[in-house]
Amino acid sequence: MGDFSTSPGESGGGQAAISRSWVPRFGRTERFTHWWMVVLMVAALLTGLGLDEGGIMSWVHVGSVVLIGLGLLLAALLGDHRALYRAIRALLIIDRRDVVWLRDRARLPGDRRPEPEWGVFNPGQKLFAWALSLSVTAMILTGVGAWFSLAEAGDLHGASVVATGVLLSLHLFMALANPSTRPSFMGILFGRVNRRWAAAHHGEWLRAVDQTSQNT
Ligand code: HEM
Ligand code: HEM
Repeated sequence: MGDFSTSPGESGGGQAAISRSWVPRFGRTERFTHWWMVVLMVAALLTGLGLDEGGIMSWVHVGSVVLIGLGLLLAALLGDHRALYRAIRALLIIDRRDVVWLRDRARLPGDRRPEPEWGVFNPGQKLFAWALSLSVTAMILTGVGAWFSLAEAGDLHGASVVATGVLLSLHLFMALANPSTRPSFMGILFGRVNRRWAAAHHGEWLRAVDQTSQNT
């Protein structure tokens, strides 16, 4: 994945110390893809709110969505496509253990039994990724409908924008405010996370990372 297990300029014993406390989580390709999506989603949102039918804003609006797709394609072609594929796969595959955990949480929301050691993403993140993929797809389909002035498409577009907004507000809360998940922000910004946080939240993933680095 990434090359951020050490801080720039570290070497020798310092490097070992840094490696002990930081773990590489997202490489450049995954981080580029994420932040490209963020910038263009904000552009689409702002231009959508200030849309003037047939005017420049509506072209920038559609253009920013087209650019999201082009950015993903570029990242896959020029970046580390294996890392990107691995991340997307890990995010979208919901296995049996995830289903059992989600079912138990739905039945007993207050249950505080110790969590299993999760892989790179936990079931909550996977559920979020699926919900977000669906709401973004709905936004694009209804946006195309609204562009061609199909009846009701404008209202449905507005509804899917609101649904996406709710999901992203939750995402922002987890990334910036919730103390137990906030340390993940370092990963999406600089590529590495605190080892203790990784052990507590993604133990299975941490073991796999350590094993890979021992074998290389
Ligand atoms: C990231 C995806 C998108 C976001 C965040 C977004 C956001 C918005 C927002 C906030 C509005 C104003 C509220 C509304 O009128 O419902 C809007 C309107 C609109 N959007 Fe989008 N949009 C997206 C994708 C698209 C796409 C792909 C198209 C067309 C190909 C499109 C076409 C339109 C049109 C035509 C309107 C005006 C609808 C009307 O006034 O009835 N949008 N969009
Ligand atoms: C300023 C806004 C945002 C911040 C601060 C932020 C922060 C983060 C962080 C910290 C992670 C890594 C979580 C981990 O290490 O496990 C992450 C992952 C992710 N982000 Fe964002 N994000 C933002 C906006 C967005 C937007 C606009 C989208 C999509 C349109 C998005 C989609 C995702 C997805 C799909 C993941 C992987 C799943 C997850 O970890 O929840 N993010 N983001």
